[in-house]
Amino acid sequence: MKIVFATHNQNKLKEVQQLLPESIQVLSLTDIHCHEEIPETAETLAGNARIKADFVTKNYGYNCFADDTGLEVAALNGAPGVYSARYGGLPRDADANMRKLLSNLKDKTDRSAQFKTVIALNLNGKQYLFEGVCKGEILYEKRGSAGFGYDPIFVPDGFKESFAEMSMEEKGKISHRGRAVAQLVAFLWSLKVGP
Ligand code: IMP
Repeated sequence: MKIVFATHNQNKLKEVQQLLPESIQVLSLTDIHCHEEIPETAETLAGNARIKADFVTKNYGYNCFADDTGLEVAALNGAPGVYSARYGGLPRDADANMRKLLSNLKDKTDRSAQFKTVIALNLNGKQYLFEGVCKGEILYEKRGSAGFGYDPIFVPDGFKESFAEMSMEEKGKISHRGRAVAQLVAFLWSLKVGP
C-alpha cells in the first residue's frame, strides 16, 4: 500500500518509513509532484492537519496523513498554539518567535507549557486523528543549539536539558511528534495491510 505523508521534509519521511511495515510505502509531497503551497487556515491544530490531508486525498487521490504542531503556554492562555510558526511575525523566524515568547513571559512565574502534535490520517474514505503531547517548562533564556523552533527554551518534564541540548534520538523518544507518530504507526500495524 502507498500512503502520502503531506511533507517535503525527507527526514520526517525517513523517520516514519523506518517504523512501518515494508508493505506500506510512504511517499512525500515531492514524490507525488505536489509543489503547491497547501493553505493552513484553520484555527486549530487538528483543523490544519485535516486540511492538509484532505488537500492531498482530494487533488491527488492518495491515502494520506498530515501533521500540525503548536506550543501551548499556560500563562498565555494556550498561545502561541496554532500560530507557533509565525508568532514573531513574517517571515517565519525561530529567533523572533522565541524573543516574543520570552518577552511576553517576562513577569510570569508559571512557566508551564506543552507541545502538541495532531496527525490526521485519511485512509480508504475514513479519517482518523492521533495526538501526541509533551509537557514541560519555558526557560528564562535559550540553552543549546540542536533541534529547531522553540527547542532552546523548552525543557520537558523529568529532564534538566532543553530539547536543544538533546540528541535527535533522545528527543524523538519523548517528544510530542514522536508520541503522535507512535500512535499512527501502531494503528497502521494493527490493520495488517498487504502490498
Ligand atoms: P509544524 O506544524 O511541524 O510545522 O510546526 C509548527 C511550528 O511549531 C514550527 O514552526 C515551530 O515553531 C514549532 N515546533 C514544532 N515542532 C517543534 C519542536 O519539536 N520543537 C520546537 N518547536 C517546534
